[in-house]
Amino acid sequence: MPYNFSHRHLLDIERLSRADIECILALAARYAEQNRGPHKKSDRLHGKTVVNLFFENSTRTRTSFEIAAKRLGADVVNVPLEQSSVKKGETLLDTVLTLDAMLIDGLVVRHNEDGIPQFIAPHVRAHVINAGDGKHEHPTQALLDALTIMRHKGRIDGLTVAICGDVAHSRVARSNAHLLTKLGARVRMIAPPVFGMSNYGNLGVECTDNLAQGIAGADAVMTLRIQYERIGDDEHSIDTSDYAHAYRLDHNSLRAARPDAIVLHPGPANRGVEISSELADDPARSVIREQVEMGVAVRMAVLDLLLHESGG
Ligand code: NCD
Repeated sequence: MPYNFSHRHLLDIERLSRADIECILALAARYAEQNRGPHKKSDRLHGKTVVNLFFENSTRTRTSFEIAAKRLGADVVNVPLEQSSVKKGETLLDTVLTLDAMLIDGLVVRHNEDGIPQFIAPHVRAHVINAGDGKHEHPTQALLDALTIMRHKGRIDGLTVAICGDVAHSRVARSNAHLLTKLGARVRMIAPPVFGMSNYGNLGVECTDNLAQGIAGADAVMTLRIQYERIGDDEHSIDTSDYAHAYRLDHNSLRAARPDAIVLHPGPANRGVEISSELADDPARSVIREQVEMGVAVRMAVLDLLLHESGG
């Protein structure tokens, strides 16, 4: 099957077409199967160099990109930002241009400000992949969520997906809103009024502050961490136990969803706050571990589509 993906970078879901998304997911599904077999590793990206440039802490996403690149035979360099010249006052662009001058092929960027990967992309020869920029987008997370849902439901089109929690500050929710609506799902956002959801006005999603209403009849329910590092002073007044009381996903609150609804969480999860430990660990409902597994497959697909035969 030919995979047609004409983009030079993966900066967000917003600029991808439905066909682009389906192309990535189809290749990722193949890698997911390969990863479960005895021959995980290939030399598809032999000789290519992928640099992980993470200006924000990350365990799963950075490791996932590293494993994905290594499974394809690429060399991977993790830039230790604590010791980097950014600390000596070098600008972000200088750092990026210095790395690019080493003829690297892929640059995976995470930053706490919106728009940094998009800012970098026109300045470099390397292919830029957004690994999460501020509150804006986290495209590979939405792709791995979609792949996980498809493995359980067989499709995205026509499904109802509820996304619950701190959606206002979530790049995961925003990328999912773009992706799921492009693929024909009905998307509901659920958040307490204190967070607000005004930034979802024109994304074609429904918004509510009521958990039971929001997840009613849902095929998949995703819950999110409160992202304290990204929220303003007013919202800091939120009381965690009140929040948990009204919005925690557990076996009881999940009853409003379809009986076969699956539960997703991008991690890191705050057990007992947005999700109960029992639900997070229930293999009959929770697909959280599978999301992590699919993350490697999706990142392999993205690296393959961008870097293979690109000549750098
Ligand atoms: C998310 C992120 O960093 O945006 N985590 C992740 O990549 N798996 C969600 C979060 O930080 O809460």
